[in-house]
Amino acid sequence: MRFSLAPTLLLLVLLLFYQHHSSSNLYSNTLSSFVDATSLALSPSPFLSMDFRSHSSNFTLIPSAQKKEKTRNGIEEGLAKSRAAIHEAPKPTKTFFMKLCRSHIEMEKKFKVWVYREGEIPLVHMGPMNSIYSIEGQFLDEIERAMSPFAASHPDEAHTFLIPVSIANVVHYLYRPLVTYSRKQLHNVFLDYVNVVAHKYPYWNRSQGADHFFVSCHDWAPDVSGSNPEMLKNMIRVLCNANTSEGFMPQRDVSIPEINIPGGHLGPPHLSSSSGHDRSILAFFAGGSHGYIRKILLKHWKDKDEEVQVHEYLPKNQDYFKLMSKARFCLCPSGYEVASPRIVASINLGCVPVIISDHYALPFSDVLDWSKFTIHIPSEKIPEIKTILKNVSGRRYLVLQRRVLQVQRHFVINRPSQPFDMLRMLFHSVWLRRLNIGLHL
Ligand SMILES: *[C@@H]1O[C@H](CO)[C@@H](O)[C@H](O)[C@H]1NC(C)=O
Ligand SMILES: *[C@@H]1O[C@H](CO)[C@@H](O)[C@H](O)[C@H]1NC(C)=O
Ligand SMILES: *[C@@H]1O[C@H](CO)[C@@H](O)[C@H](O)[C@H]1NC(C)=O
Ligand SMILES: *[C@@H]1O[C@H](CO)[C@@H](O)[C@H](O)[C@H]1NC(C)=O
Repeated sequence: MRFSLAPTLLLLVLLLFYQHHSSSNLYSNTLSSFVDATSLALSPSPFLSMDFRSHSSNFTLIPSAQKKEKTRNGIEEGLAKSRAAIHEAPKPTKTFFMKLCRSHIEMEKKFKVWVYREGEIPLVHMGPMNSIYSIEGQFLDEIERAMSPFAASHPDEAHTFLIPVSIANVVHYLYRPLVTYSRKQLHNVFLDYVNVVAHKYPYWNRSQGADHFFVSCHDWAPDVSGSNPEMLKNMIRVLCNANTSEGFMPQRDVSIPEINIPGGHLGPPHLSSSSGHDRSILAFFAGGSHGYIRKILLKHWKDKDEEVQVHEYLPKNQDYFKLMSKARFCLCPSGYEVASPRIVASINLGCVPVIISDHYALPFSDVLDWSKFTIHIPSEKIPEIKTILKNVSGRRYLVLQRRVLQVQRHFVINRPSQPFDMLRMLFHSVWLRRLNIGLHL
């Protein structure tokens, strides 16, 4: 068994650092309930949906595969040990962040993802590397080509299985020119892929898809489930478009941030030089009238207020990111879909995000407590933006801003990825869901 010490040591160093420097309350308590619940028994916790429970009791193995079953039992035992280890954070400072660290350490040591080899680029094994859908391409490239420590070398050692279809590429290549919004072609490509691997290998049927996942930032990504809702209902969907009123289930699915990666860079600029003290603009937004939330925002605030600066188009001589880095608060309204690349940009620029959304399951929220470093404003409170933001005291603002700087590391893309960065947080979210599933053999 391969075991690399380097990431573990790095994590331990980070862990010690955090013991002294972190305000652990940035990190939500959900992980403890996650792990608490699961370490008691291998059965899924009450935290999980009914769907999961009814299904996990029905997992079966192909009877002839005795040897496979042994490997499988080994994998399940390994996961049980990880749950216990995460649970046993060092006693005197048993903070949430310590558990998160433990969980990352366990993941670095063990987690293995099998990427199915079937299919051809560009629809499979490849995705956009730039612009707002780029996390698909970056993730596929990381696990398939960047010697990722999480890439399994054989499916029998894998904890989870990746369906490497890029929804953004399917839409890009099969829907140009865009003459139909019918999801039929997308459904066909995705379901064909799942059917092929489910017929060829035992893994899908064994868990009824519950240890399988795909990753996509595209608006249409949640719709793949519509191709066969019954067959795909257990699959983990890793999505930017995490709208809980459109079937996103936080217990099963993973919400990831949308990041706009300009050509030749790995993310928005990192200009956090302005501290909380020298930011002269109260609130800033510039962007098109996409979706109902932005329409309300522009209707109430467009070019109307000196302090709440809301623009549909930015004058040519103005620098968008510079303005964000001068603002105390950056407005991040949902667009055509709930996610906004402005959240990652604000965090990287040290600007406190004001998330204006309804039904948005925020990224990584089983480990990050967003209420500690952002302001959330539901759409019906848009007229009160100024009152709400002016009501934040100077002291509270500095606390929020300091925490924004503390979570920056989770919203940065590194290639190859590094502990606690955005791609690692994505892996970690899938790892957590896999820890909780416990296939019954
Ligand atoms: C398990 O499968 C059987 C037969 O397919 C079905 O009748 C039963 O309802 C299932 N149990 C659960 C808990 O889903
Ligand atoms: C998985 O289940 C499907 C549907 O029941 C079946 O057609 C397929 O052959 C199974 N796959 C394997 C590898 O047995
Ligand atoms: C979220 O889903 C609901 C229900 O379909 C929809 O009305 C709403 O517009 C969606 N939110 C966004 C920002 O698109
Ligand atoms: C203003 O802030 C106080 C204390 O933080 C809070 O109790 C109150 O609800 C806020 N008022 C508004 C209008 O947001």
